[in-house]
Amino acid sequence: MTQQRYTITTALPYANGPLHLGHVAGVYIPADIYVRYLRAKNEDVVFIGGTDEHGVPITIKAKNEGVTPQQVVDKYHKIIGDSLKQLGITLDVFSKTTSKQHYKTASDLFKKLEGEGAFTEQVTEQYYDEANNQFLADRYITGTCPHCANEKAYGDQCEKCGSTLNATDLINPKSALSGNKPVLKKTKHWFLPLDKYEPWLKQWILEEHKDWKTNVYGQCKSWLESGLQPRAITRDLDWGIPVPVEGGEGKVLYVWFDAPIGYISFTQELLANDTTRKWEDYWKKDGNSKLIHFIGKDNIVFHCIIFPSMLKLFGDYILPDNVPANEFLNLEGEKFSTSQNWAVWLHEFLADFPDKTDVLRYTLCSNMPETKDADFTWKDFQAKNNNELAANLGNFVNRAFVLTHKFFEGKIPAPSTLEEIDKNTLAQAKEFNAKISDSIDKYRFREALSELMKLSNLGNKYLADTEPWKIKDNAQRVGTILRIALEIAGKISVLGLPFLPETTTKMATWLGISNTQWSEADKDILLTDGFTIAPAQLLFSKIEDDVIAAQLEKLKASREQAQQAKTSAVPQKENVTFDEFSKMDIRVGTIIEAEKVAKTAKLLKLKIDTGIDQRTVVSGIAEHYKPEDIIGKQVTILVNLAPRNIKGIESQGMILMAENSKGELAFVSPVKEIDNGGGVR
Ligand code: 2FM
Ligand code: ZN
Repeated sequence: MTQQRYTITTALPYANGPLHLGHVAGVYIPADIYVRYLRAKNEDVVFIGGTDEHGVPITIKAKNEGVTPQQVVDKYHKIIGDSLKQLGITLDVFSKTTSKQHYKTASDLFKKLEGEGAFTEQVTEQYYDEANNQFLADRYITGTCPHCANEKAYGDQCEKCGSTLNATDLINPKSALSGNKPVLKKTKHWFLPLDKYEPWLKQWILEEHKDWKTNVYGQCKSWLESGLQPRAITRDLDWGIPVPVEGGEGKVLYVWFDAPIGYISFTQELLANDTTRKWEDYWKKDGNSKLIHFIGKDNIVFHCIIFPSMLKLFGDYILPDNVPANEFLNLEGEKFSTSQNWAVWLHEFLADFPDKTDVLRYTLCSNMPETKDADFTWKDFQAKNNNELAANLGNFVNRAFVLTHKFFEGKIPAPSTLEEIDKNTLAQAKEFNAKISDSIDKYRFREALSELMKLSNLGNKYLADTEPWKIKDNAQRVGTILRIALEIAGKISVLGLPFLPETTTKMATWLGISNTQWSEADKDILLTDGFTIAPAQLLFSKIEDDVIAAQLEKLKASREQAQQAKTSAVPQKENVTFDEFSKMDIRVGTIIEAEKVAKTAKLLKLKIDTGIDQRTVVSGIAEHYKPEDIIGKQVTILVNLAPRNIKGIESQGMILMAENSKGELAFVSPVKEIDNGGGVR
């Protein structure tokens, strides 16, 4: 049998924004710990990452910013890649789904399956914008949510009530491009017949993968039990990989069809010029590689059901051995939100705390959302640094170093006769290799890290119990104790490498350890007698309260800024001619009567003096103004709007209102008094 290999992938983030700590805690930290551990055990592994550069949100971002989609993805690919490197994520390749190789691989695989008749074709009706001559992706359609009446729901989702929608569910659908009502038009698409794979998927996951994490297994089970439907794998869009078969003109591969193929094409790029390894070793069955996908919970169905079905269709490819998906990380008790800028962005963290990458890795690992959602708070970050890393690990290492310099001029003392406490401590220390390995093998990274900290506790306790600083006239005894303490520090430098690479690499250098292979941690003796250790230095500096307060302030300020920006960022509607504008008769009027409309929460019935007459207007402002407060106010009114019947009342016009990002309404009134009937132009 070929030797065991490992193909480790990290979910490809969309290149339409930087990474935030949620991505890092859910995907990159666990993956990097796992890979560093495998490498320390001399395993043969490829570690794959990159950016997902297709999909509608990228085209929307480009449109809003007035640049091309390629410019958007190039910008964020660089920011994301640089920040991951700085955090010490040791990907072997970080590529992009707009690369040449990726286009080729994804197109070839689509063509192959299409040629083999693996897909079905269906003609469906989709919304089409006649003014722009194009089909509309669901995100480009807005309208009223049928569940909660939110007027700003998207064609795929209502962000207010969280419902998943089909564009055809929306009431009063509007194209985000032209503002017009879209029409339904027939279009052909290719479908992956997942229904056909259901029996096989049920057997493979539900019977053969009972070892998967409960959250992952549970989500798969619920998908499989509610029945799989054929899934469209092409779209009518102009951004993506062109559908490479006849009839595919003007269409592209669905982003979720091409993105996971990126794992394969990036491996091809990585090994293109490698003389000893082939990409097939890591993807084809006879390469004997274990495929493990590190992802967040929102990606489970794609990695456990859809991509495996594709891999099975490709023929002799391996299937995932495990998909240790994480739940979500929240921020200060609330969900991360890109649109509201409620996020700690990785590149900003790294700019603010360039010497605290390990502290971040530690905080995110000890609080990893492994089995349920977890929370990142700045206070906790400070506490983990000050009370755990500095006070426990940093303090232990520092004490051992200071004492070695004080009593032995920094030279590692040779051990002599061991007492009971020494033997005991060494025996306990020896167990940590197996304990930490066992937790990592089971993808329990929090547990593994807490074991590492127990090893540091053991060292601290040993020094506290033996009190070498109090021993008089027995240099041998002091030497033995310090040697054991330094050996524990040495073990930490080996076993801690996957979690705290910067810190443990420093420790290994200070102690003169050149071999940090995992098996070294099994030895009682790792260090060399007489080696002069580095001068005692602090591994972790304290984080003061004002630093944390400043981060909390920044977080709040950036959300406020985003809210303000949102108000002004509503995309401009399509142009109108002056003639079209002139058709609207807008005038200044005064509210002379106001009352609530019975049995409604939002409506007021107003009587307006328009200068030409006194007329009734029904207006949806009851949540913003009390009737008694607005009598006598001057407002602007569209007087030639065709009368409408609202709740049995004829409304003869419309009061113009301005709206802020929170949905609060205010009258648009002249800033000095104008005679009623004065025109607005
Ligand atoms: O959810 C996301 O951010 C996707 N871009 C993940 C893709 S993972 C893989 F399939 F490429
Ligand atoms: Zn809704």
